[in-house]
Amino acid sequence: MESTRRKLIDFLSKHPDDFVSGQALSEHLRITRSAIWKHMKELEKDGYIIESAPRKGYRILEFPDKLSANTIQWGLTTKWLGTHVIFEESTSSTQNMAHRLAQEGAGHGTVIVADEQLKGRGRLNRSWDSKKGDGIWMSLILRPEIGPQQAPQLTLLCAVAIVKALEQNTIIHPKIKWPNDIFVNDKKLAGILTEMQAEQDQIQYIVQGIGINVNQGDADFQAIKGNHPTSLMLETGKKVNRRLLIQQILKQLEDLYELYMREGFSPVKQMWEEKAYKLGKSITVKAKNEEWSAVLKGIHHDGALIVTDEKGQDHILYSAEIDWKKGGS
Ligand code: BTN
Repeated sequence: MESTRRKLIDFLSKHPDDFVSGQALSEHLRITRSAIWKHMKELEKDGYIIESAPRKGYRILEFPDKLSANTIQWGLTTKWLGTHVIFEESTSSTQNMAHRLAQEGAGHGTVIVADEQLKGRGRLNRSWDSKKGDGIWMSLILRPEIGPQQAPQLTLLCAVAIVKALEQNTIIHPKIKWPNDIFVNDKKLAGILTEMQAEQDQIQYIVQGIGINVNQGDADFQAIKGNHPTSLMLETGKKVNRRLLIQQILKQLEDLYELYMREGFSPVKQMWEEKAYKLGKSITVKAKNEEWSAVLKGIHHDGALIVTDEKGQDHILYSAEIDWKKGGS
């Protein structure tokens, strides 16, 4: 049932502007025309808007924003990322779910998405506001054959994939603030939380959490302190389809991941630097209870940040908070 419906969507999606006749669908899928009609009714229940016209057939007018494992997988063009999607209406944190599933043996490329998180968390154990229906709250399970010291590179890779998907899907051109934030117009739009389970030199699994503010309005952010948050709707002036954006992020991530496995970090590093926030600009570095001014120079080959202090000396930072308000330009 499920795979027939997926084939049906795939076939209709290939003819976005034309009607496809019931006869053609029935021949392609080897099912009766009345079975096709029943599938169409099920798709409508899932939020698809389908136009049917006598003697012409069917066409999809609108894909749903409603998230489910099925709607995320229909039209997904990845090879391995998202072949197993788990969707929850509400959960404490997709990150916690992903850890549990990974420990139980869930495979490389498993994707966990929730419509709402009750205890969403960010870096440094900060809470992550994850209201129902408003954002993309998702965690991926990866089992890469790289050393644990390379894991931070995957955060940078993920950030590049998100920016590319956003550029493809919206009018905005976000920037990446090291190590894990996506910024647009000086406000935080999204964050990445990469967590790893490793033994000595071997990674058992990585859980990569992605949180993107999509359809929140101003009122949703009033209680949130710290980084000024924003959403795609606030930045673009219109609602954004979360399902399509998730699919594009997964596709960009899979493509970049494969490039990284083939050619190493260098091409990802270059893309990251092209999209880096405040590259070449003055920043404030907060590390080990100290604060000092520097210029953001770039990314080291292992994913650490390179900054130049006021005396002209370079520093390689593996963990630090970067601020820019006190640093000037
Ligand atoms: C940050 O900016 O500090 C990272 C935020 C990461 C939030 C995502 S939402 C999906 C996943 N589940 C969580 O509890 N956190 C991550």
